[in-house]
Amino acid sequence: MLDKLHHLRDEALAAIEAADSSDALEAARAAYLGRKGRLKDLMGDLPRLPAAQKPAAGTLANEVKQALTRALAERQKKLKAPAAGSGRPALDVTLPGAHTELGSRHPITQVNDLLVEVFARLGFETAYGPEIEDEHHNFDALNIPPDHPSRDGFDTFYIEDGGRNEHLLRSHTSPVQIRVMESRQPPVRIVVPGKVFRPDTVDAGHFPMFHQLEGLYVDEGVSFADLKAVLSIAMQELFGEQTRTRFRPSFFPFTEPSTEVDVSCPFCAGRGCGVCGQAGWIELLGAGMVDPEVFRHVGYDAEKYTGFAFGMGVDRIAMVKLGINDIRLFYENDARFLKQF
Ligand code: DAH
Repeated sequence: MLDKLHHLRDEALAAIEAADSSDALEAARAAYLGRKGRLKDLMGDLPRLPAAQKPAAGTLANEVKQALTRALAERQKKLKAPAAGSGRPALDVTLPGAHTELGSRHPITQVNDLLVEVFARLGFETAYGPEIEDEHHNFDALNIPPDHPSRDGFDTFYIEDGGRNEHLLRSHTSPVQIRVMESRQPPVRIVVPGKVFRPDTVDAGHFPMFHQLEGLYVDEGVSFADLKAVLSIAMQELFGEQTRTRFRPSFFPFTEPSTEVDVSCPFCAGRGCGVCGQAGWIELLGAGMVDPEVFRHVGYDAEKYTGFAFGMGVDRIAMVKLGINDIRLFYENDARFLKQF
């Protein structure tokens, strides 16, 4: 009898240890400790034992019962907390994983980087300047007279500085021309990307903050032919080899002569379409030969050096290049729009 009990105990403990689910554990419990289980069975033989053997057999039977009950409880606990006692919930490998979407560069950034790269290949390095400017760099040194409309409060964000209004959010990137020329001697060949600010009413073509790319090339013997060559090549790099450029006379206070540059419409190859308003040309940037008056402000010898400058709206170029008809789309942070580029 005692041997049978020992044997039963070992077998039951092994079965409990091997149970790998609550169901398997319950099956083991029923088989050994259940009302019709093996232990009950064995204990049914107790009354028929010789009286001298009864006490020992009874005690052992009880001990086996307790050992198995304890083993069952412990195994049950382990099955419920499978993460090795870490206290964390079970890992459910059937749940979908956390999906992280890969972002992309903003379309304005993409076009800006492309422009910088195109001009880098033409020998232009990149320079930067402050977004908060003073009147000297934003206007005076660029030969923009005090009564020029662009200096008006309607056209410029001034910053309250004790009523002096000497600081403002730069209205163009041209002041960086001045800052760079003030800091070094020719040759200077730079492009300046950056944000500019004007209190414009928001519509499909206007936003109070937008982006420009400024360019400046100063050296001995720089001519209008250089200006035409550099800008023609840059526009071809930007819109494709078939792109033609057109230079129309214009006026800017800081260049003389000045020109407005148009490119043949990339959508209709110049034949005329809805995008270019049937004109076949799209007005894209301003440029010109640096006015000697600007050289005087920065202390360059205007008899020795000549140069050309240009300025373009990056938002506008991005709109033409990517076929976007409303500038506001760039600034709404709508992923459905941004994902397309
Ligand atoms: N600063 C001008 C603007 O914001 C753009 C511009 C025109 C820049 C001609 C230039 C230039 O450097 O030569 O409207």
